[in-house]
Amino acid sequence: MVIASRPLIVGNWKMQGLRASIAEMEAMARHQPVRPVDICLCPPFTLLEAGGRAIGSSALWIGAQDCAPSRMGAHTGDIAAEQLADMGVRMVILGHSERRADHGETNAVVRAKAEAVLAAGLEPLICVGETARERDTGATVAVILAQLAESLPEGEGRARCTIAYEPVWAIGTGRTPTGREIIEAHAALRGSLGMHQTLRILYGGSVKPGNAAEILALSGVDGALVGGASLTAKDFVAIIDACP
Ligand code: PGA
Repeated sequence: MVIASRPLIVGNWKMQGLRASIAEMEAMARHQPVRPVDICLCPPFTLLEAGGRAIGSSALWIGAQDCAPSRMGAHTGDIAAEQLADMGVRMVILGHSERRADHGETNAVVRAKAEAVLAAGLEPLICVGETARERDTGATVAVILAQLAESLPEGEGRARCTIAYEPVWAIGTGRTPTGREIIEAHAALRGSLGMHQTLRILYGGSVKPGNAAEILALSGVDGALVGGASLTAKDFVAIIDACP
């Protein structure tokens, strides 16, 4: 039996946000959610420190969008999970489709990064999702199960992972799968988790204030990974308050 967990809403600012955007974080941190919910905001690396200060002692977690697979050392331009932990980061997004596409990240790289995140005492948020072509050819479930099987770290650290189902064609496009398609994908992912079926599985891809309540109420959806609509406090808190 899968025990329903408290929802988790994660905001992914991607490569957006300047110091002027800190005011939005402060407004998010001041918001009192109407129901119990975990909230994590992932600004770019450049705003992690100021962001951490802005959210202060609020219940908001601060997260990062990527990290290196290796320990601290001679890797110019990279950022290690230990350095993120030192900044007060709690969660790290890994395997986002933009990183898979822009930087050729494979499942093996995502797993190595997840292991580094766990070793630093942080929580990996591992993204999987099919392309439009894969959906059209009926390959969705096979693709996302293979991504999950090869990206999730082995061993007991698995229990500290969160999964995000993000169809590539739904990211930043305003298009979303039907409720049935989301339920099917989440059920397939959960079914493959064996003893870790209680891991939270978030949906991501064009979640907005207007569709959040419907998506978050779907069976097997434990929260959302929100891109564009997490950039302003107004939209992000509307999504937070849409949690069932
Ligand atoms: P979007 O992005 O909400 O802007 O579609 C989601 C994501 O990429 O995590």
